[in-house]
Amino acid sequence: MQLKNDLLIRAAKGETVERTPVWLMRQAGRILPEYRAVRESLSGFKELVETPDLAAEVTIQPVDILDVDAAIIFSDILVVPEAMGCTYEMVEKRGPWFPKTIRTEADLARLRVADPHEHLGYVLEAIKVTKKALNGRVPLIGFAGAPWTILAYMVEGSGSKTFSHARGLLYTNPKLAHQMLRMITDTTIAYLKAQVEAGANLIQVFDSWAGILPPAHYREFSLPYISEICNAINEVPVTVFAKGAFFALEDFSKLNCETIGLDWNMDIKTSRAQVGPNKTLQGNMDPCLLYSSFETIQHETIKMLKEFGPQRHIANLGHGVYPDTDPEKVKCFIQTVKEYSASIKV
Ligand code: CP3
Repeated sequence: MQLKNDLLIRAAKGETVERTPVWLMRQAGRILPEYRAVRESLSGFKELVETPDLAAEVTIQPVDILDVDAAIIFSDILVVPEAMGCTYEMVEKRGPWFPKTIRTEADLARLRVADPHEHLGYVLEAIKVTKKALNGRVPLIGFAGAPWTILAYMVEGSGSKTFSHARGLLYTNPKLAHQMLRMITDTTIAYLKAQVEAGANLIQVFDSWAGILPPAHYREFSLPYISEICNAINEVPVTVFAKGAFFALEDFSKLNCETIGLDWNMDIKTSRAQVGPNKTLQGNMDPCLLYSSFETIQHETIKMLKEFGPQRHIANLGHGVYPDTDPEKVKCFIQTVKEYSASIKV
């Protein structure tokens, strides 16, 4: 199916675009009353994720309501540990919780390398339903967590300020950590390939907990596995978003991927110098800007666009949009990107 709006894909590949594409991490979710209505009619988050027709419906909501240049499949990075045999619960107002953590060899023995068709068929089905309903309006982004971030949740058992159990394991039992990362990486590569087969037009890898590792541990326990994933996915462009990994931007320039996501702590000019000219950058507005006035949002968004320049940029926030953001402010950010970038490009 030919895409009617392929700005995201062209920008990722470094082709000339007539304006900057824009989408938001976590655009499908609690900011939209339409999402909350679907969600409240169900037993919980997991039911939504595991019901392809509903997952497709909330995936498309931000395309209809916010007018973004891409859809991202409604799912979660935690479906991968679930498929490997480490189930999670999404606790209302608290976040993910794993009743059984993975901290020993005996725990690891309970895990399997998942088969995406057998264990994650509901995501693949949701992608197919979404693609059909989108009918080529915008590209569909597929995603997975980076192996380190997935390990962090499986070892810790929940979100954490320090992830001290997960980081501790890298010192106390590095062999076990590598064995786990191996299994997660093999699962993730098969899963992402299956997402592409089902219709995903671009893949984003989220290393949400990159920034908590010392650089040497990042190079040993995260980067090589992300690199393997990038080398394996050649059918569509790949974006790597590693929150807090400013120390790894030079390493990222060597990855076999098209786009590097920046968080809002990263300086745009410095990041461009470190990543080099041959990759697209995505980001990186502070999500808190969207609490300010329409005038401030416009002003700051234009300032950001000027710093990135008109090509090789995908506009986004520096992390997911916060649930208490007014959708009208989100629309202001999106419209400003579209109007300003179209006005300066020839
Ligand atoms: O719109 C989209 O971006 C697509 C959907 C999406 C979700 N999670 C839905 C979701 C995506 C891409 C994710 C990725 C994800 N999940 C990440 C990586 C990105 C990041 O934020 O760093 C991480 C770390 C997770 C794990 C996770 N899922 C946490 C920590 C939480 C609880 C915190 C929260 O935001 O509520 C979730 C829950 C979650 N995932 C929700 C949504 C819409 C909220 C659940 C609800 O509706 O009650």
